[in-house]
Amino acid sequence: MKTVGFIGVGDLAEYTIKGLRAGNYQGRILLSPRNQRRSKILAELCQCKVLHSNQAVADASDLLILSTRPAASLEIFSQLKLRSDQQLISVVAGISIDALTAATATGISITRAMPVSSAEVGSSPTIIYPSNASVLELFNYCGKSIAVETESAFEQGSVLACVYTWYFELFEQLIKATTSRDFPSELATELVLGMANGAASLARQDKSRTPGEIAEYIATEGTFSKLGLDLLKDRQAFEPWTEACQLLLDRLNQDD
Ligand SMILES: NC(=O)c1ccc[n+]([C@@H]2O[C@H](COP(=O)([O-])OP(=O)(O)OC[C@H]3O[C@@H](n4cnc5c(N)ncnc54)[C@H](OP(=O)(O)O)[C@@H]3O)[C@@H](O)[C@H]2O)c1
Repeated sequence: MKTVGFIGVGDLAEYTIKGLRAGNYQGRILLSPRNQRRSKILAELCQCKVLHSNQAVADASDLLILSTRPAASLEIFSQLKLRSDQQLISVVAGISIDALTAATATGISITRAMPVSSAEVGSSPTIIYPSNASVLELFNYCGKSIAVETESAFEQGSVLACVYTWYFELFEQLIKATTSRDFPSELATELVLGMANGAASLARQDKSRTPGEIAEYIATEGTFSKLGLDLLKDRQAFEPWTEACQLLLDRLNQDD
């Protein structure tokens, strides 16, 4: 089993490692030493090993995950001495393969991946570019790896990794909107999340209709579903979502 090293042990490293272990990944996981508190907790909780330097992690890893913040990542990466038999996985948003390649003297294979925090519960749809068998296999331990064929598709998928976060806010709004004295927030939470899960399951399984067609099929004339949906459409509630996605895509392409 491959040894996985993390350079940068922050939020992403933590949820990914917890997900890998929960999914029964039994290979060695090595951590860079900065952020000692988190590394120590992960070492205890998830059987990781904290090494004394970034280079020590790089030296001992088959798969090296670069999980530092975008602004610092190229410099950190350029300081590592790597071997051409290793695989770099960059989870850094907005930094292209070309930029990463230019930052290293080694002809190391580089793949981008974008796991989201549901990795922790084994449920991250993780986009990968370019496809690589070892990387696909790794992220399948904490969800489902989805390889895309172009870097532009990867950027588009990265936007959806942000939309993932917006769902939580939408859930929160719906829970607040429906909680009352007779309908406690626990029940509202259970139903808001259950309905979202149910809608996602049906949309995924029903290959004969798009999600919009399913909505149209349910929200027919005279139904309560249509009453609410019409109000949302009249108020152009969905347009800002499109605009927000476009804003991120423009920004990601600009950073390339
Ligand atoms: N979090 C997410 O939901 C998410 C989702 C998708 C992609 N990403 C990507 O994942 C990357 C990490 O994000 P994050 O949220 O995990 O950030 P984070 O919590 O800030 O973690 C980054 C870690 O890198 C450490 N670090 C800084 N300089 C370092 C160095 N020279 N060597 C080793 N470690 C160093 C930081 O330590 P200090 O705190 O001491 O500076 C911090 O612990 C980002 O590039 C982001 O684009 C994140």
